[in-house]
Amino acid sequence: MRRILSLAVLCLFAATTQADPLHLYLTYSDAPETTIDVNIITDRKTDRVHVFYDVESQNGAQSEYRHVVEAKYHPSLMEIADRRALYVAKLTDLKPGATYHFVAGDKTYGYSGERKFHTLPGGDAPIRFVNGGDMGMDNRAIGILKEAAKHDPDFAVIGGDLAYADGMIGNEELWDAWFDNWDTFMRRSDGAMIPLITCIGNHEVNKFETDDPKLRSPWYLPLFGRQGEKVYYTRKVGNNLAFVVLDSGYLNPFDGEQAAWLEATLKAHQDTPHRFAVYHMPLYPAFSNYNGARQTLARKTWGPLFDTYGVRVAFEHDDHVAKRSKPLKGDAVAETGTVYIGDGAFGRESRNVDRELRWYNAMEESVVHFWLVDVTKDSVKLQAIDRKSRVFDSLTLP
Ligand SMILES: [Fe+2]
Repeated sequence: MRRILSLAVLCLFAATTQADPLHLYLTYSDAPETTIDVNIITDRKTDRVHVFYDVESQNGAQSEYRHVVEAKYHPSLMEIADRRALYVAKLTDLKPGATYHFVAGDKTYGYSGERKFHTLPGGDAPIRFVNGGDMGMDNRAIGILKEAAKHDPDFAVIGGDLAYADGMIGNEELWDAWFDNWDTFMRRSDGAMIPLITCIGNHEVNKFETDDPKLRSPWYLPLFGRQGEKVYYTRKVGNNLAFVVLDSGYLNPFDGEQAAWLEATLKAHQDTPHRFAVYHMPLYPAFSNYNGARQTLARKTWGPLFDTYGVRVAFEHDDHVAKRSKPLKGDAVAETGTVYIGDGAFGRESRNVDRELRWYNAMEESVVHFWLVDVTKDSVKLQAIDRKSRVFDSLTLP
Protein backbone atom coordinates (compact mmCIF):
# COMPACT_ATOMS: atom_id res chain seq x y z
CA MET A 1 0.00 0.00 0.00
CA ARG A 2 2.80 2.30 1.00
CA ARG A 3 4.57 1.48 -2.30
CA ILE A 4 1.40 2.19 -4.31
CA LEU A 5 1.02 5.51 -2.52
CA SER A 6 4.60 6.51 -3.24
CA LEU A 7 4.19 5.50 -6.89
CA ALA A 8 1.07 7.66 -7.09
CA VAL A 9 2.99 10.59 -5.59
CA LEU A 10 5.83 10.02 -8.09
CA CYS A 11 3.39 9.94 -11.04
CA LEU A 12 1.74 13.16 -9.85
CA PHE A 13 5.16 14.77 -9.56
CA ALA A 14 6.11 13.63 -13.07
CA ALA A 15 2.87 15.00 -14.50
CA THR A 16 3.37 18.45 -13.04
CA THR A 17 7.15 18.85 -13.39
CA GLN A 18 8.53 20.62 -16.47
CA ALA A 19 11.80 19.41 -17.95
CA ASP A 20 13.43 22.84 -18.18
CA PRO A 21 16.48 23.38 -20.39
CA LEU A 22 19.69 23.23 -18.37
CA HIS A 23 19.77 27.04 -18.05
CA LEU A 24 17.73 30.01 -19.24
CA TYR A 25 18.79 33.62 -18.80
CA LEU A 26 18.23 37.00 -20.39
CA THR A 27 20.72 39.52 -21.77
CA TYR A 28 20.61 42.46 -24.17
CA SER A 29 22.49 43.04 -27.38
CA ASP A 30 20.30 45.93 -28.46
CA ALA A 31 17.69 48.35 -27.07
CA PRO A 32 16.11 47.06 -23.82
CA GLU A 33 12.85 48.74 -24.83
CA THR A 34 12.25 46.63 -27.95
CA THR A 35 14.65 43.67 -27.85
CA ILE A 36 15.93 40.93 -25.58
CA ASP A 37 18.16 37.89 -25.99
CA VAL A 38 16.81 34.65 -24.54
CA ASN A 39 19.83 32.44 -23.84
CA ILE A 40 19.13 28.72 -23.66
CA ILE A 41 21.62 26.07 -22.59
CA THR A 42 20.58 22.52 -23.41
CA ASP A 43 22.10 19.32 -22.01
CA ARG A 44 23.43 18.38 -25.45
CA LYS A 45 23.50 19.81 -28.96
CA THR A 46 20.06 19.34 -30.41
CA ASP A 47 18.07 19.94 -33.58
CA ARG A 48 15.88 22.98 -33.18
CA VAL A 49 15.42 25.22 -30.16
CA HIS A 50 12.53 27.65 -30.14
CA VAL A 51 11.11 30.47 -28.08
CA PHE A 52 7.33 30.88 -28.23
CA TYR A 53 6.23 34.28 -26.91
CA ASP A 54 3.27 36.58 -26.49
CA VAL A 55 2.13 39.63 -24.55
CA GLU A 56 -0.57 37.44 -23.06
CA SER A 57 -0.03 34.37 -20.95
CA GLN A 58 -0.82 31.14 -22.79
CA ASN A 59 0.00 28.94 -19.81
CA GLY A 60 2.70 27.08 -21.70
CA ALA A 61 0.52 25.89 -24.62
CA GLN A 62 3.06 26.36 -27.44
CA SER A 63 0.59 26.56 -30.31
CA GLU A 64 -1.25 29.42 -28.61
CA TYR A 65 1.66 31.90 -28.50
CA ARG A 66 1.40 34.46 -31.28
CA HIS A 67 5.13 34.59 -32.01
CA VAL A 68 7.85 32.01 -32.38
CA VAL A 69 11.54 32.41 -33.13
CA GLU A 70 14.17 29.75 -33.64
CA ALA A 71 17.21 30.18 -31.38
CA LYS A 72 20.57 30.24 -33.11
CA TYR A 73 23.14 27.63 -32.17
CA HIS A 74 26.45 29.12 -30.97
CA PRO A 75 29.32 26.60 -30.98
CA SER A 76 31.38 27.02 -27.84
CA LEU A 77 34.06 25.39 -25.76
CA MET A 78 31.37 24.67 -23.16
CA GLU A 79 30.54 21.63 -25.31
CA ILE A 80 34.00 20.28 -24.62
CA ALA A 81 33.28 20.50 -20.89
CA ASP A 82 30.25 18.24 -20.86
CA ARG A 83 28.50 18.59 -24.25
CA ARG A 84 26.14 21.34 -23.11
CA ALA A 85 25.15 23.56 -26.04
CA LEU A 86 24.22 27.22 -26.24
CA TYR A 87 21.34 28.68 -28.25
CA VAL A 88 20.29 32.32 -28.38
CA ALA A 89 16.94 33.68 -29.56
CA LYS A 90 16.96 37.38 -30.37
CA LEU A 91 13.50 38.77 -29.78
CA THR A 92 13.03 42.02 -31.69
CA ASP A 93 10.26 44.52 -32.44
CA LEU A 94 8.89 44.11 -28.92
CA LYS A 95 6.52 46.67 -27.42
CA PRO A 96 8.15 49.01 -24.88
CA GLY A 97 6.86 48.79 -21.31
CA ALA A 98 5.19 45.44 -21.93
CA THR A 99 5.17 42.07 -20.22
CA TYR A 100 6.13 39.13 -22.43
CA HIS A 101 5.35 35.52 -21.58
CA PHE A 102 7.40 32.78 -23.17
CA VAL A 103 8.32 29.15 -23.32
CA ALA A 104 11.81 28.08 -24.48
CA GLY A 105 13.51 24.80 -25.26
CA ASP A 106 13.49 21.85 -27.61
CA LYS A 107 11.74 18.51 -28.06
CA THR A 108 14.58 16.31 -26.88
CA TYR A 109 15.80 18.06 -23.75
CA GLY A 110 12.61 19.78 -22.74
CA TYR A 111 10.73 23.05 -22.80
CA SER A 112 10.60 25.45 -19.89
CA GLY A 113 7.43 26.25 -18.08
CA GLU A 114 6.03 29.65 -18.96
CA ARG A 115 8.41 32.46 -18.04
CA LYS A 116 8.04 36.20 -18.34
CA PHE A 117 10.04 39.40 -18.61
CA HIS A 118 9.30 43.11 -18.94
CA THR A 119 10.59 45.37 -21.70
CA LEU A 120 11.70 48.81 -20.51
CA PRO A 121 9.28 51.69 -21.13
CA GLY A 122 11.90 53.94 -22.78
CA GLY A 123 11.73 57.71 -23.18
CA ASP A 124 12.05 59.60 -19.90
CA ALA A 125 10.53 56.83 -17.75
CA PRO A 126 12.45 56.17 -14.51
CA ILE A 127 14.95 53.30 -14.60
CA ARG A 128 15.89 51.13 -11.63
CA PHE A 129 18.76 48.68 -11.57
CA VAL A 130 20.94 46.88 -9.06
CA ASN A 131 24.70 46.70 -9.34
CA GLY A 132 27.28 44.44 -7.77
CA GLY A 133 30.09 42.10 -8.65
CA ASP A 134 32.22 39.37 -7.11
CA MET A 135 29.48 36.93 -6.30
CA GLY A 136 30.03 33.21 -5.92
CA MET A 137 27.10 31.03 -4.94
CA ASP A 138 27.17 30.22 -1.23
CA ASN A 139 24.60 31.25 1.39
CA ARG A 140 26.08 34.71 1.64
CA ALA A 141 25.57 35.18 -2.12
CA ILE A 142 22.03 33.79 -1.92
CA GLY A 143 21.18 36.16 0.95
CA ILE A 144 22.28 39.26 -0.93
CA LEU A 145 20.60 38.11 -4.18
CA LYS A 146 17.30 37.75 -2.31
CA GLU A 147 17.71 41.22 -0.90
CA ALA A 148 18.48 42.72 -4.34
CA ALA A 149 15.47 41.05 -5.94
CA LYS A 150 13.13 42.63 -3.37
CA HIS A 151 13.66 45.99 -5.06
CA ASP A 152 12.17 44.87 -8.38
CA PRO A 153 15.02 46.10 -10.59
CA ASP A 154 14.46 46.46 -14.32
CA PHE A 155 17.81 44.73 -14.85
CA ALA A 156 21.06 43.94 -13.01
CA VAL A 157 24.51 45.26 -13.83
CA ILE A 158 27.09 42.68 -12.75
CA GLY A 159 30.66 43.91 -12.67
CA GLY A 160 32.56 40.68 -13.18
CA ASP A 161 33.62 37.64 -11.12
CA LEU A 162 30.33 35.80 -11.26
CA ALA A 163 30.92 32.07 -10.75
CA TYR A 164 34.67 32.05 -10.02
CA ALA A 165 35.25 29.34 -12.63
CA ASP A 166 38.58 30.97 -13.56
CA GLY A 167 38.14 30.14 -17.23
CA MET A 168 38.67 26.45 -16.47
CA ILE A 169 36.90 23.97 -18.73
CA GLY A 170 36.30 21.62 -15.79
CA ASN A 171 34.39 24.08 -13.64
CA GLU A 172 30.93 23.70 -15.16
CA GLU A 173 29.34 22.86 -11.80
CA LEU A 174 30.25 26.36 -10.57
CA TRP A 175 28.32 27.96 -13.44
CA ASP A 176 25.45 25.52 -12.84
CA ALA A 177 25.18 26.66 -9.23
CA TRP A 178 25.49 30.32 -10.24
CA PHE A 179 22.74 30.10 -12.86
CA ASP A 180 20.50 28.09 -10.53
CA ASN A 181 20.84 30.80 -7.87
CA TRP A 182 20.22 33.57 -10.36
CA ASP A 183 17.15 31.92 -11.79
CA THR A 184 15.74 31.01 -8.39
CA PHE A 185 16.43 34.13 -6.36
CA MET A 186 16.70 36.98 -8.86
CA ARG A 187 13.06 37.28 -9.82
CA ARG A 188 10.86 40.32 -9.53
CA SER A 189 7.94 40.16 -7.11
CA ASP A 190 5.64 39.17 -10.00
CA GLY A 191 7.99 36.32 -10.96
CA ALA A 192 9.49 38.08 -14.00
CA MET A 193 13.11 37.22 -14.88
CA ILE A 194 15.73 39.97 -14.38
CA PRO A 195 17.97 40.56 -17.44
CA LEU A 196 21.74 40.87 -17.02
CA ILE A 197 24.22 43.47 -18.21
CA THR A 198 27.71 42.19 -17.38
CA CYS A 199 31.39 43.01 -17.67
CA ILE A 200 34.34 40.62 -17.50
CA GLY A 201 36.34 40.07 -14.30
CA ASN A 202 39.67 38.42 -13.55
CA HIS A 203 37.94 35.19 -12.47
CA GLU A 204 36.42 34.87 -15.94
CA VAL A 205 39.80 34.18 -17.57
CA ASN A 206 42.53 31.56 -17.21
CA LYS A 207 46.29 32.08 -17.52
CA PHE A 208 46.74 29.99 -20.67
CA GLU A 209 49.09 31.79 -23.06
CA THR A 210 47.27 32.26 -26.33
CA ASP A 211 46.08 35.03 -28.61
CA ASP A 212 42.67 33.40 -28.90
CA PRO A 213 40.29 35.04 -26.39
CA LYS A 214 37.90 32.08 -26.65
CA LEU A 215 40.58 29.89 -25.07
CA ARG A 216 41.34 32.47 -22.39
CA SER A 217 37.71 32.76 -21.40
CA PRO A 218 35.86 29.61 -22.43
CA TRP A 219 32.82 30.31 -20.21
CA TYR A 220 32.32 34.06 -20.02
CA LEU A 221 32.70 34.73 -23.75
CA PRO A 222 30.05 32.27 -24.93
CA LEU A 223 27.74 33.02 -22.01
CA PHE A 224 27.99 36.82 -21.98
CA GLY A 225 30.23 37.83 -24.89
CA ARG A 226 27.47 38.76 -27.33
CA GLN A 227 26.23 41.91 -25.57
CA GLY A 228 28.31 43.92 -28.01
CA GLU A 229 30.68 43.36 -30.88
CA LYS A 230 33.54 43.05 -28.40
CA VAL A 231 33.74 42.19 -24.73
CA TYR A 232 33.64 45.97 -24.12
CA TYR A 233 30.48 47.58 -25.41
CA THR A 234 27.88 50.27 -24.84
CA ARG A 235 24.22 50.06 -23.92
CA LYS A 236 21.78 52.96 -24.11
CA VAL A 237 18.72 52.73 -21.87
CA GLY A 238 15.86 55.13 -22.56
CA ASN A 239 16.64 58.76 -23.41
CA ASN A 240 18.74 59.52 -20.37
CA LEU A 241 21.18 56.73 -19.58
CA ALA A 242 24.13 55.23 -21.43
CA PHE A 243 26.56 52.61 -20.11
CA VAL A 244 30.08 52.04 -21.32
CA VAL A 245 31.07 48.55 -20.21
CA LEU A 246 34.81 47.99 -20.17
CA ASP A 247 37.40 45.23 -19.91
CA SER A 248 39.96 45.91 -17.15
CA GLY A 249 42.79 44.45 -19.17
CA TYR A 250 41.78 40.77 -18.99
CA LEU A 251 41.30 40.21 -22.73
CA ASN A 252 42.00 43.74 -24.04
CA PRO A 253 44.59 46.26 -22.89
CA PHE A 254 43.27 49.41 -21.17
CA ASP A 255 44.82 51.57 -23.86
CA GLY A 256 45.03 51.27 -27.65
CA GLU A 257 41.88 50.10 -29.38
CA GLN A 258 39.74 49.97 -26.22
CA ALA A 259 40.68 53.52 -25.16
CA ALA A 260 40.03 54.84 -28.68
CA TRP A 261 36.66 53.11 -28.68
CA LEU A 262 35.89 54.52 -25.20
CA GLU A 263 36.61 58.06 -26.32
CA ALA A 264 34.54 57.76 -29.51
CA THR A 265 31.66 56.15 -27.61
CA LEU A 266 31.58 58.69 -24.78
CA LYS A 267 31.67 61.43 -27.41
CA ALA A 268 28.72 59.84 -29.21
CA HIS A 269 26.76 59.80 -25.92
CA GLN A 270 27.49 63.46 -25.10
CA ASP A 271 23.83 64.44 -25.33
CA THR A 272 22.73 61.65 -23.01
CA PRO A 273 22.31 63.19 -19.52
CA HIS A 274 23.78 60.28 -17.51
CA ARG A 275 26.88 58.40 -18.70
CA PHE A 276 27.94 55.47 -16.50
CA ALA A 277 31.11 53.38 -16.78
CA VAL A 278 31.13 49.76 -15.62
CA TYR A 279 34.29 47.68 -15.22
CA HIS A 280 35.92 45.29 -12.81
CA MET A 281 39.13 46.71 -11.35
CA PRO A 282 38.83 49.93 -9.31
CA LEU A 283 40.66 53.07 -10.44
CA TYR A 284 40.09 54.38 -6.90
CA PRO A 285 40.27 51.28 -4.70
CA ALA A 286 39.29 50.96 -1.06
CA PHE A 287 41.28 47.77 -0.48
CA SER A 288 43.88 47.27 -3.21
CA ASN A 289 46.85 49.51 -3.83
CA TYR A 290 46.10 52.95 -5.31
CA ASN A 291 49.68 53.01 -6.61
CA GLY A 292 49.55 49.53 -8.14
CA ALA A 293 50.84 49.42 -11.72
CA ARG A 294 47.52 48.31 -13.23
CA GLN A 295 45.48 50.79 -11.17
CA THR A 296 47.82 53.61 -12.18
CA LEU A 297 47.69 52.66 -15.87
CA ALA A 298 43.88 52.39 -15.82
CA ARG A 299 43.60 55.78 -14.10
CA LYS A 300 45.97 57.42 -16.59
CA THR A 301 44.23 55.87 -19.59
CA TRP A 302 40.55 56.07 -18.70
CA GLY A 303 40.49 58.82 -16.06
CA PRO A 304 41.02 61.78 -18.45
CA LEU A 305 38.31 60.40 -20.75
CA PHE A 306 35.88 60.11 -17.85
CA ASP A 307 36.75 63.74 -16.97
CA THR A 308 36.49 65.12 -20.50
CA TYR A 309 33.19 63.46 -21.29
CA GLY A 310 31.64 63.80 -17.83
CA VAL A 311 31.10 60.23 -16.72
CA ARG A 312 28.73 60.69 -13.77
CA VAL A 313 29.22 57.37 -12.00
CA ALA A 314 31.88 54.71 -12.43
CA PHE A 315 30.84 51.30 -11.11
CA GLU A 316 33.92 49.49 -9.80
CA HIS A 317 34.31 46.01 -8.32
CA ASP A 318 36.94 43.38 -7.49
CA ASP A 319 38.00 44.58 -4.02
CA HIS A 320 35.13 42.97 -2.01
CA VAL A 321 34.39 46.07 0.09
CA ALA A 322 31.89 48.93 -0.07
CA LYS A 323 33.12 52.35 -1.12
CA ARG A 324 31.96 55.65 -2.55
CA SER A 325 34.48 58.22 -3.70
CA LYS A 326 34.22 61.96 -3.43
CA PRO A 327 33.56 63.63 -6.81
CA LEU A 328 36.90 63.33 -8.63
CA LYS A 329 38.35 65.13 -11.62
CA GLY A 330 41.97 65.28 -12.82
CA ASP A 331 42.88 62.70 -10.16
CA ALA A 332 41.87 65.16 -7.43
CA VAL A 333 38.81 65.92 -5.32
CA ALA A 334 36.56 68.38 -7.16
CA GLU A 335 33.24 70.11 -6.68
CA THR A 336 31.79 68.18 -9.58
CA GLY A 337 33.32 65.10 -11.09
CA THR A 338 32.94 61.37 -11.47
CA VAL A 339 31.74 59.48 -8.40
CA TYR A 340 33.35 56.04 -8.19
CA ILE A 341 31.33 53.45 -6.33
CA GLY A 342 31.94 49.80 -5.54
CA ASP A 343 33.77 47.65 -4.84
CA GLY A 344 32.23 44.29 -5.56
CA ALA A 345 30.99 42.38 -2.53
CA PHE A 346 27.78 40.98 -4.04
CA GLY A 347 28.25 37.65 -2.32
CA ARG A 348 31.97 37.30 -1.66
CA GLU A 349 33.15 37.75 1.91
CA SER A 350 34.01 41.38 2.49
CA ARG A 351 37.63 42.37 3.13
CA ASN A 352 38.84 44.85 5.72
CA VAL A 353 39.17 48.50 4.81
CA ASP A 354 41.88 50.83 6.14
CA ARG A 355 41.45 52.46 9.56
CA GLU A 356 41.28 55.86 7.92
CA LEU A 357 39.46 56.86 4.78
CA ARG A 358 41.69 57.18 1.74
CA TRP A 359 41.96 60.77 0.49
CA TYR A 360 39.66 60.20 -2.45
CA ASN A 361 36.91 58.29 -0.65
CA ALA A 362 33.80 59.52 1.18
CA MET A 363 32.74 56.08 2.41
CA GLU A 364 34.54 52.78 2.94
CA GLU A 365 32.98 49.85 4.73
CA SER A 366 33.64 46.15 5.04
CA VAL A 367 30.20 44.78 4.18
CA VAL A 368 28.50 42.44 1.71
CA HIS A 369 26.17 44.67 -0.29
CA PHE A 370 24.76 45.82 -3.62
CA TRP A 371 23.97 49.25 -5.03
CA LEU A 372 20.39 50.19 -5.89
CA VAL A 373 20.34 52.85 -8.59
CA ASP A 374 17.34 54.96 -9.60
CA VAL A 375 17.74 57.11 -12.69
CA THR A 376 15.40 59.84 -13.91
CA LYS A 377 16.04 62.55 -16.44
CA ASP A 378 17.10 64.95 -13.67
CA SER A 379 18.72 62.79 -11.02
CA VAL A 380 20.64 59.67 -10.10
CA LYS A 381 20.00 58.15 -6.69
CA LEU A 382 22.54 55.63 -5.37
CA GLN A 383 21.89 53.50 -2.28
CA ALA A 384 24.19 50.87 -0.80
CA ILE A 385 22.18 48.08 0.85
CA ASP A 386 23.33 45.09 2.91
CA ARG A 387 21.84 41.65 3.57
CA LYS A 388 19.65 42.98 6.38
CA SER A 389 17.99 45.63 4.17
CA ARG A 390 20.10 48.35 5.80
CA VAL A 391 20.73 51.35 3.57
CA PHE A 392 24.18 52.21 4.88
CA ASP A 393 25.09 54.84 2.31
CA SER A 394 23.24 56.98 -0.19
CA LEU A 395 23.84 59.86 -2.53
CA THR A 396 21.63 61.74 -4.98
CA LEU A 397 23.28 63.44 -7.92
CA PRO A 398 21.28 66.20 -9.58
FE1 LIG B 1 38.01 40.22 -9.18
